[in-house]
Amino acid sequence: MEAEEQNMDTGKKVNIGVVGLGYWGPNLVRNFIDVENCRVVMVCDANEARLKPVKKRYPNIELTTKYEDMAASNDVDAIAIATPVISHYPLAKQALENGKHVLIEKPICSNSTEAEDLIKTAKKYQKILMVDHTFLYTGGVRKIKELIDKGEIGQLFYLDSVRINLGLFRPDVNVIWDLASHDISIIHYLFDEPPVSVSAMGRDFNNNNITCLAYITLKYKSGMIAHIHTSWLSPVKIRRIILGGSKKMVIYDDVEPTEKIKIYDSGIEFRQENETSLQPTYRLGDINLPKLDQREALALEANHFIDCILNGKKPLTDGAMGLAVLKILEAADISTREGGREIALNISRQQ
Ligand SMILES: NC(=O)c1ccc[n+]([C@@H]2O[C@H](COP(=O)([O-])OP(=O)(O)OC[C@H]3O[C@@H](n4cnc5c(N)ncnc54)[C@H](O)[C@@H]3O)[C@@H](O)[C@H]2O)c1
Repeated sequence: MEAEEQNMDTGKKVNIGVVGLGYWGPNLVRNFIDVENCRVVMVCDANEARLKPVKKRYPNIELTTKYEDMAASNDVDAIAIATPVISHYPLAKQALENGKHVLIEKPICSNSTEAEDLIKTAKKYQKILMVDHTFLYTGGVRKIKELIDKGEIGQLFYLDSVRINLGLFRPDVNVIWDLASHDISIIHYLFDEPPVSVSAMGRDFNNNNITCLAYITLKYKSGMIAHIHTSWLSPVKIRRIILGGSKKMVIYDDVEPTEKIKIYDSGIEFRQENETSLQPTYRLGDINLPKLDQREALALEANHFIDCILNGKKPLTDGAMGLAVLKILEAADISTREGGREIALNISRQQ
């Protein structure tokens, strides 16, 4: 994927509709409005009150409370879906069957059977199906990927992520699906291999059966390990990933306003003194703060979606990738219900 690429000016324009104007949808509207070769022609929300701010700000955009109007409209080429997860599948299926390209919020669907069906449907109708795993378009994650690909981190040993804050409780998904889905997509992008198993300990603490705190471990064939601590029950907001490799270590702190990435030339090597003594040598070298692309991730992503439509490209965050993330979420849920049992995963490289 070349998220950096602006879509080429082919003279063609994509008319897009956005459904769901709650917390996230307005960000999609704002970013698609700025994409060249794209026009936001319609927005939809079942709650009429949510349409009013759009009407005030963008009077030329058509408004509807009925999704059927958008899905059936000949003026709409593509639909971005930002509604609760439970509704992703029926809305996306209807859009694809009506010949629309689809950008769907993360996580792609409520279960992998639905996701597999969407992938099949998109293929049948030859439409782009892309999932909004926003973090893969951030300057921070793209910089880490670049460092890994250039061999600067060396052999990857582990990734440790903490993504915690107070709330926002969601009635339809638990904290693993809401917050850890970001980490799982990031890990899936950075690591060259899919995980072979997942185990997760989770608790609800509110007797509502919605996990609000979880510790998730992913294992890899190569010996790599990834751990995610995610919570809606933390007094402070932390968004920190530590990546450890044989050459360098990286800290990605997304709460930092500017210096989000720090690259540490740190490590430990062991020297065998004699049969019983193993001497560690600590390497404490420079710390580098690379310059990051400051552009809004959603702006790059919106451009990438339109580029994929106009130029027949495969999205970085395509349906297969959304399905891989979903399979891990499903297995993590099973593991939390079974007291942290290790669940084997069957995820292919294409996913
Ligand atoms: N990529 C990210 O970083 C990110 C961040 C936040 C949320 N999200 C995702 O965005 C999606 C929406 O989350 P949110 O926080 O904006 O939810 P929200 O509850 O704030 O908003 C959802 C909106 O969808 C509308 N809606 C629901 N069903 C509808 C239907 N059938 N037709 C028309 N309108 C309908 C609701 O009226 C509501 O206004 C979720 O999938 C969530 O996981 C992604």
